[in-house]
Amino acid sequence: MSIRPIFVVAGVGNASGTGAAAARLFSKAGYRVALIARDQKSLQTLASKLSEDGGEAHPFAIPSYAPQDVRGAFTAIRKQWPKEQGNDIRVALWNTAAAVWKPFLEITDEEVKEGLEVNVAAAFAFSREVIKEFKSNELNELGKRGTLLFTGATAGIRGNVTTSAFAAGKFGERALSQSLAKEFGKDNIHVAHAIIDGPILTDRQRSRHDTEWQNDQNVRLDPESIAKAYVYLANQDRSAFTWELDLRPAHVKW
Ligand SMILES: NC(=O)c1ccc[n+]([C@@H]2O[C@H](COP(=O)([O-])OP(=O)(O)OC[C@H]3O[C@@H](n4cnc5c(N)ncnc54)[C@H](OP(=O)(O)O)[C@@H]3O)[C@@H](O)[C@H]2O)c1
Ligand SMILES: *[C@@H]1O[C@H](CO)[C@@H](O)[C@H](O)[C@H]1NC(C)=O
Ligand SMILES: *[C@@H]1O[C@H](CO)[C@@H](O)[C@H](O)[C@H]1NC(C)=O
Repeated sequence: MSIRPIFVVAGVGNASGTGAAAARLFSKAGYRVALIARDQKSLQTLASKLSEDGGEAHPFAIPSYAPQDVRGAFTAIRKQWPKEQGNDIRVALWNTAAAVWKPFLEITDEEVKEGLEVNVAAAFAFSREVIKEFKSNELNELGKRGTLLFTGATAGIRGNVTTSAFAAGKFGERALSQSLAKEFGKDNIHVAHAIIDGPILTDRQRSRHDTEWQNDQNVRLDPESIAKAYVYLANQDRSAFTWELDLRPAHVKW
């Protein structure tokens, strides 16, 4: 009789990374999946795959991560799965990031702007929609209304020689997540930030490394392994919420 909860993920790329892995695992865990990203074709392919595997997923393509476009995605989700019919958004993942890796003096005004607009302002817009949704939910069996997750990075806690623009954005994302965890904990809303402290095995990283690196689980993170941690966080009950965890492969120096 109960309607399956909805998992919303923003930032799916061409479906080789963390966003897509999380979509697959939450789908397996019984969630319906709302996919938000810019490329309609990749989203449609992933949604079809999840549906073939017994899940229910829908693509919600947006033209950009501008705040109004992010809000538009939530309007579309609500058209697809109306709240009045008992459809609750219970878990959301902000996974999108614009990565600028350049020495400080080479970074343009445009890149600074993009880093802050995508990594901070868009994360605010996404979080606002998610928190409003969660506030309208009843407490679930874990004693919470919802779980909002953020994919962070080493650059979210440490700047480095080519990360001035990127780190400014990722620090901002982390600051947002901590503030939300504090402000909405009293509403039984769980907010968690994951510091991904090492390279993730995405198609982009594959193209930069040899097969030995790709096959060595000691040196890079598997998107599926990160997604497992996200499911674990979503399953935490109100008496023991993690705000922040960090994940790194066994041999990464830290
Ligand atoms: N890859 C790594 O080695 C690594 C390491 C540590 C942390 N992280 C973090 O992991 C998250 C990404 O996960 P992933 O690497 O596995 O890739 P992913 O799941 O494929 O997602 C990355 C998303 O970021 C969006 N994106 C990329 N460049 C953008 C830009 N310039 N403007 C707007 N959006 C942009 C893309 O959105 P569309 O789908 O709309 O194209 C893409 O979906 C990020 O938060 C990143 O900081 C990554
Ligand atoms: C900082 O940058 C240097 C030079 O690119 C690199 O060797 C080092 O691993 C980086 N440190 C971290 C913590 O990412
Ligand atoms: C994703 O994009 C990379 C290039 O960035 C490409 O090599 C890879 O084949 C693409 N993967 C999929 C599943 O489309």
